[in-house]
Amino acid sequence: MKNEILRALQLEDQNPGSWSGSKSYKLKDCITSFSPVDAARIADVGISSSQDYQSIIRQATKAFEIWRVTPAPQRGEFVRCLGEELRKVKAELGKLVSYEMGKSYQEGLGEVQEMIDICDFAVGLSRQLYGLTMHSERPKHRMYEQWHPLGIVGVISAFNFPVAVWSWNAALAWVCGNVVVWKPSEKTPLCGVAVQKIVARLIKQMQLPDGLCSMINGGPEAGAWLTHDHKVALISATGSTKMGRQVGAAVAARFGKSILELGGNNAIIITPSANLKKVLPAIVFGAVGTAGQRCTSTRRLIIHESIYRKVRDTLVKAYKQLRIGDPLDQNNHVGPLIDQQAVRQYLLAAEKIRKQGGRLVIAAKVLNGKAYQSGCYVQPCIAEVTPEMSIVQQETFAPILYLMSYSTLDEAIAIQNNVPQGLSSAIMTEQLREAELFLSAAGSDCGIANVNIGTSGAEIGGAFGGEKETGGGRESGSDAWKLYMRRQTNTISYSDTLTLAQGIKFEI
Ligand code: UN1
Repeated sequence: MKNEILRALQLEDQNPGSWSGSKSYKLKDCITSFSPVDAARIADVGISSSQDYQSIIRQATKAFEIWRVTPAPQRGEFVRCLGEELRKVKAELGKLVSYEMGKSYQEGLGEVQEMIDICDFAVGLSRQLYGLTMHSERPKHRMYEQWHPLGIVGVISAFNFPVAVWSWNAALAWVCGNVVVWKPSEKTPLCGVAVQKIVARLIKQMQLPDGLCSMINGGPEAGAWLTHDHKVALISATGSTKMGRQVGAAVAARFGKSILELGGNNAIIITPSANLKKVLPAIVFGAVGTAGQRCTSTRRLIIHESIYRKVRDTLVKAYKQLRIGDPLDQNNHVGPLIDQQAVRQYLLAAEKIRKQGGRLVIAAKVLNGKAYQSGCYVQPCIAEVTPEMSIVQQETFAPILYLMSYSTLDEAIAIQNNVPQGLSSAIMTEQLREAELFLSAAGSDCGIANVNIGTSGAEIGGAFGGEKETGGGRESGSDAWKLYMRRQTNTISYSDTLTLAQGIKFEI
């Protein structure tokens, strides 16, 4: 299985971890990637040295000089071709994502599909980087705004979406005229290398500058090179709130720009009118998809008291049907957590739930036996809690679903909003008035608010991101592209005389 994936992605050379742009490294300076699926060692990926980093930045700076004046529709053509390349390797890349990260093969495919979708979106965008024109208050003056590229965009991505989140950033950054330096998660380095190699081959084929797309590998220190470097105009970082706090502060201290996409604590309100049969799969997928390791995973269910027991019992029944195991086997619903550390966090959270007075309706359990030899497979659990318990206020990156009840919709919305994070939210209702209240300014305070669909699985066409400790950034669709460009206001006089604004008289 492993070799078949590596062969298809042309990662099979003597050194699967090498990537274009990296210099030499010794094996001791490697990140070893282990699959959470079967604990196999997949690859050793070289860690970048600070000299590697400096030369990558030099190369990126040179490439930017060419790329920023390349017409945007031509930049779009590069992204269009990348979309074509990704279509060709969708199955194999999807498998690698599944094998290195542990999400189901279906979700691995979905992730590559997101990459293809954002490429298509960016191609169209490359002809639509519109600025406004304004009416000047002065006669014979013209005023308008235009959008220019920023420079080097540093992308720091997380293990849970090892390829898609990079692509949201890269595809937009490129059509906007920027160049990209990517630091993938050290937990999924081979996915990064696979994508980097696809892009590097395309760059060569299209005779574009090498520095258009580079990668650095390593731990937090490699991320810190990017965040502290004034040559990197924009940092787009995805990960924990703790990481985002450091990144945001470092970038702000040098007046750089940042897009932060951090933790979520996403809730679904289930009202008495909800069509449970219809929405149940969305709720369960939201909670156990990617083994609860999406930033959009459903973590809290706020259920009307009149249907609380019914919903709880239906969920317990549904959870009993879940098949946990090898994510590449399409019969299974839930794969492993990313590593042993994640398993410890999951167990610790279960312990805290009990200590804080919660009740585990489906207990936390690490599965063992031959099929689970990596030690990363866990039972998705359900806990009855009260909203103010401190564990419920935190994001635990694991399949733990909290149940709580409410009596009025205002109360439910208050519970939903009363957490530090603000990424995604949903309401299940057949009542227009409930849905509209939830979506109103007095409703959900999240960046994403859905009706009758789950909290996860956002489409790329909308702006993606959230409020409060989620970081406030927006990536992907709508007009998120504006964050990858600088705005310039231009006023041009074609008058014979000089007129000052605000009617000021000044004669010499
Ligand atoms: C993430 O978990 O960081 O909305 C991104 C979703 C996916 C992206 C999640 N499209 O669930």
